[in-house]
Amino acid sequence: MSQTNKPTILITGGGGGIGSVAAGAFAARGYRVAVCDIRLDAAQLTVDAVRGAGGQADAYGADIGDAAQVAALFERIAADYGRLDAAFNNAGIGGGGIPLADISEEDWERNLRINLSGTWRCMKHEIRMMLNQEGGGAIVNNCSILGINGGANASYTATKHGIAGLTKSAAVSYAAKGIRVNAVCPGLIEAGLGLNVIRRGEDALRKFLSLHPIGRAGTAMEVVNAVLWLCSDEASFIHGHMMPVDGGYSSH
Ligand SMILES: NC(=O)c1ccc[n+]([C@@H]2O[C@H](COP(=O)([O-])OP(=O)(O)OC[C@H]3O[C@@H](n4cnc5c(N)ncnc54)[C@H](O)[C@@H]3O)[C@@H](O)[C@H]2O)c1
Repeated sequence: MSQTNKPTILITGGGGGIGSVAAGAFAARGYRVAVCDIRLDAAQLTVDAVRGAGGQADAYGADIGDAAQVAALFERIAADYGRLDAAFNNAGIGGGGIPLADISEEDWERNLRINLSGTWRCMKHEIRMMLNQEGGGAIVNNCSILGINGGANASYTATKHGIAGLTKSAAVSYAAKGIRVNAVCPGLIEAGLGLNVIRRGEDALRKFLSLHPIGRAGTAMEVVNAVLWLCSDEASFIHGHMMPVDGGYSSH
């Protein structure tokens, strides 16, 4: 693959809901998009859609929960792209809505391995690349309202609070080095993991939506609009911000 003068972005979890919408939106803004997913076929579908719309994107298969696969991913990105201007650490799994005392060792380890260690691992490689290039870069983590508030979904809530810590810690360490690190904290979104809540039926949905003062779920594009802004020069003084995209949920 040849290198171009376009700004580049890595989107993890780009084969699914919010990540695939982000890939299309960043490509439409002129980015070359590295779409990573544990499901290479899904990443390739996103890439096909981006290319069909005239954008530039490439598919990469990697499990962010596996150190060797992530190291290999970044070696390929360095070779293919030469630089990384932005990253959207979006890959993640739901915790299954399980309260703390009922979580098995296996589920707990899996959630930590993917959501928290996977996000840290990607950030580590992204920051190293950005430190070694002119102009720094911008990183946005996909956190959650459950990274700000409590929720019965204990392992998910714990990993998302951990992502908040990684976001703020990296912002403190790397702001002076030209790397901006922020997070979006979506409420219920009509895409990906959010569809599991929506599919639970009218009663569960009504209860969940009652927590969102706006009275509806958000769209993937409403999350992506915040990510686009946080990656842009318009957000040049924004560091370590946990931006709610939640229809007012976290204002309670
Ligand atoms: N949809 C919502 O309501 C909502 C709300 C708050 C936060 N979020 C966050 O948004 C992010 C995206 O979720 P989504 O709702 O679009 O769901 P999704 O399941 O459609 O997207 C997640 C993507 O990550 C990929 N993935 C899972 N494990 C991976 C791994 N180990 N390595 C690489 N890729 C992996 C999946 O294959 C999938 O394509 C998640 O971090 C989620 O916690 C979603």
